[in-house]
Amino acid sequence: MLVLMLVVATTFRFCPLVKAQPLCRIRTFRTGKVFPVEEKIQGDRLYFSSGKTHLIKHPCKKTLALYLGRQIFLTKDNFESSLIPFSIPTSMQVGTPEVTSAHFAGSVLLLVVNQKVYVYDYEANFWTASAGIQHPVSHVSGDNCCYGGNSFCMDISNSVFAYLHGDRISQANIYFSTSRGYRFQKYTQERRAELVGTFGGIFSFHSLSQVGLLLVDEQMAMFSYSDHPLNRSFGLPFGYDRTLDILIAPGQRGILIFWSEKNLLVSRNSGQLVESVRVREGQRILYNSIVKANITIHSVAANENELAVLTRENNLYYGSLGIQSSSLIKFADQNIWSQDAVLMFTDVGMLEILTPLPDMLFPAFDFQKCLLNIQALLVDPQLQAGICKVELLQGEFENKMYTIDMNSQLELTALMIPRPGTLPVPLVSKPGPLGAGNQAENRGLHFAFSLLVPQNISLKQQHHWGRANPNFTSSIKRPTISTITLDIANKEISCVDLKPLTALISVGCDLEKKIVIQNELSACYQGVLDPVALQDNYSYVIERGAYDPNFQGQQAKEDLKVYYPYEKLGCPLLAYYDIPWKPVVELWREGKFQEVVEAEYVLLEVNGLFTYTYSLTAGMAGCSAQPQNWTTITEMAGDTASFSWDRENYVSCHDPDYHEPLRWPDVPYQILGGPTENKIVFDQRNGIYIFFISIVDPSYSYCHLETTFSVYVYGAFPLSIFPPEVTIFLLTVATLLFVWLAYMVPQLLHNEQGLEVNGFWVRLYQRCRKSCAHLWGRG
Ligand SMILES: *[C@@H]1O[C@H](CO)[C@@H](O)[C@H](O)[C@H]1NC(C)=O
Ligand SMILES: *[C@@H]1O[C@H](CO)[C@@H](O)[C@H](O)[C@H]1NC(C)=O
Ligand SMILES: *[C@@H]1O[C@H](CO)[C@@H](O)[C@H](O)[C@H]1NC(C)=O
Ligand SMILES: *[C@@H]1O[C@H](CO)[C@@H](O)[C@H](O)[C@H]1NC(C)=O
Ligand SMILES: *[C@@H]1O[C@H](CO)[C@@H](O)[C@H](O)[C@H]1NC(C)=O
Ligand SMILES: *[C@@H]1O[C@H](CO)[C@@H](O)[C@H](O)[C@H]1NC(C)=O
Repeated sequence: MLVLMLVVATTFRFCPLVKAQPLCRIRTFRTGKVFPVEEKIQGDRLYFSSGKTHLIKHPCKKTLALYLGRQIFLTKDNFESSLIPFSIPTSMQVGTPEVTSAHFAGSVLLLVVNQKVYVYDYEANFWTASAGIQHPVSHVSGDNCCYGGNSFCMDISNSVFAYLHGDRISQANIYFSTSRGYRFQKYTQERRAELVGTFGGIFSFHSLSQVGLLLVDEQMAMFSYSDHPLNRSFGLPFGYDRTLDILIAPGQRGILIFWSEKNLLVSRNSGQLVESVRVREGQRILYNSIVKANITIHSVAANENELAVLTRENNLYYGSLGIQSSSLIKFADQNIWSQDAVLMFTDVGMLEILTPLPDMLFPAFDFQKCLLNIQALLVDPQLQAGICKVELLQGEFENKMYTIDMNSQLELTALMIPRPGTLPVPLVSKPGPLGAGNQAENRGLHFAFSLLVPQNISLKQQHHWGRANPNFTSSIKRPTISTITLDIANKEISCVDLKPLTALISVGCDLEKKIVIQNELSACYQGVLDPVALQDNYSYVIERGAYDPNFQGQQAKEDLKVYYPYEKLGCPLLAYYDIPWKPVVELWREGKFQEVVEAEYVLLEVNGLFTYTYSLTAGMAGCSAQPQNWTTITEMAGDTASFSWDRENYVSCHDPDYHEPLRWPDVPYQILGGPTENKIVFDQRNGIYIFFISIVDPSYSYCHLETTFSVYVYGAFPLSIFPPEVTIFLLTVATLLFVWLAYMVPQLLHNEQGLEVNGFWVRLYQRCRKSCAHLWGRG
């Protein structure tokens, strides 16, 4: 009995069920071939150097792909029509048309042909050679971000590296482009000179805000990172006994796939930890690594969350790129491999084995596709795929891009419906589980999720001010991106259709934020200035002694006539010259008031007026270092931009790490807002001031919050109308007049004439009480 059962079981194992039905459905795409034509291929026909076949899909344009093999094909319709092999115009004079690397950068295709980089604009059908590269290169690398219209996202698609693989790392020539590869410049990284080993590649890891450099030394490799805080350490070393191709999975989740014919490794955190991919059968691990599985990998395909491998042994392996470990399962043997075959995902759970077919009569190749529906294949009990514990995982945030600025919150909700009787565990991840690498975490951002009711998952991002690690204060100034992924822990391989939910989060400036200066007390409402006159191309004169066009506090040589930009500034605020003043700065978002800004900011009169100072000095403001001021900032910036005091260059004089000694404690302290009670003190001068305001506090927002506004300063006795001599003369005359009146009035009051004079003074006083109160009063 027992023996019989064993035999049955064994037979079962060696007779794969799937053999009965084919693994995939074959379709051939052949178009536009009715009459044989003598079509000539224009230009030099390109080929891929390594004897392997690769397929590169454009992550954002799903039907655009490049096939690299003995021929190269560029398709815009996912290989659904016959194609002439791709060639480069002879005018490019490439010499040997051997391609070593290719990359889609936004709207162009970059190819390294014969150690030079060429740019092909596939929309305009235009070729050009890249500028700026002086040394031979073998590879280009980059990434694509598919949320169009976001400038941060566009920067990702525009950045490209070009380099020669295998040089000594300290001498390797590395080039960087921010123009999709049209122009390159040398890339320098301080630390590179100290590094030993050979150079295995360079990659932008946007979700970590790092550039990773792969060092290879004695069959081991590891990543070195460019920026604080990861520049202090390296990624963990991993085995690298032969050159590995590196694939960046789409979606900025920090997933990297390393592969050669004999090995397959995956990293889920931009190379900080690189792990072997295991081979499983049901729950049992067959091999801990591909090296042990003794297979020869022919082609590897990956999308945002799946991985598939085609081997020369005619096997197909499939696995998910989950948050936790990666493993593959094997589908049964079938005749699916050929030298030119290549594997690609067309959708979640949908694979294609693509083979170009030459044609004796036509130069254009046809394409044979073998279509696999993974979900359907996994039904086979032989594969012991298990039953997916989750029926539905849905979130509105899926594949969306969010912006989260400092002091902002983001709430994301998802719906999970478990299979009755099971309790799957949802799992939230961000790239970089090694702690230090996770910038979002380190800046005090924190994604929390809770199971409100079993089906409801709420994700919340919060700031924990005061708890941020000071070691990361330099990186808090830098905007970055992060992805957030919601998946199911220990998800069964059968959960093919249940893809993890991912959102891209730009930790940076929220462009909807604006600052507005509160203008409740406008000079027009108070009747001091006439709005009609202001709108009618109003101008005023700034006397030469009151301004400096170079903002250095030197008197100008000529008076300045200023046209008041009413459309832009509206009616000025009103400020009384004798009361220290500061504006009330409001934060608005999407046209709605948010809060009064308490952060530090600076002001500058745009015409160079210097007839104002500050109520506090550096000493009174409690500075421990010499504070910056407009003079030092302008010197630092050179001639480039005068109004360039912002969150990037501002250093607080209260910052214990700022070691500029406090040599002049008596200089005015030019920073308003924040912890001090600093205010503007106007000179005794009436007139309009137009101020540029810039929020300099680096931890208030990633945005450059700045604006201009105007103030009308009033109430000052017009000092400088008459020259001093005239004033003295007038005063003398007035004194004499009063002395005379003092003598005359008592005498006059005794007669009738005197009564009239008395009545005149009373009337004058009453009339003046109203209008003069306006003029001299404090409003
Ligand atoms: C890491 O980067 C920071 C900031 O750019 C720099 O101050 C520090 O010296 C760097 N550390 C190393 C080891 O290069
Ligand atoms: C690996 O596979 C090859 C051919 O498939 C076989 O000849 C060889 O013995 C295998 N090696 C091991 C260690 O299993
Ligand atoms: C889950 O949360 C959403 C949004 O907060 C709510 O509309 C829905 O009713 C909740 N579902 C359950 C089952 O509580
Ligand atoms: C900052 O980094 C240094 C050096 O790695 C470490 O000694 C120190 O404990 C860190 N500080 C905090 C608050 O984590
Ligand atoms: C304002 O007046 C000046 C000088 O008369 C003239 O150059 C300028 O174009 C005028 N602007 C408007 C908007 O009328
Ligand atoms: C600006 O600061 C420097 C010292 O950093 C000081 O010498 C200078 O007088 C200051 N300028 C003004 C206008 O306060």
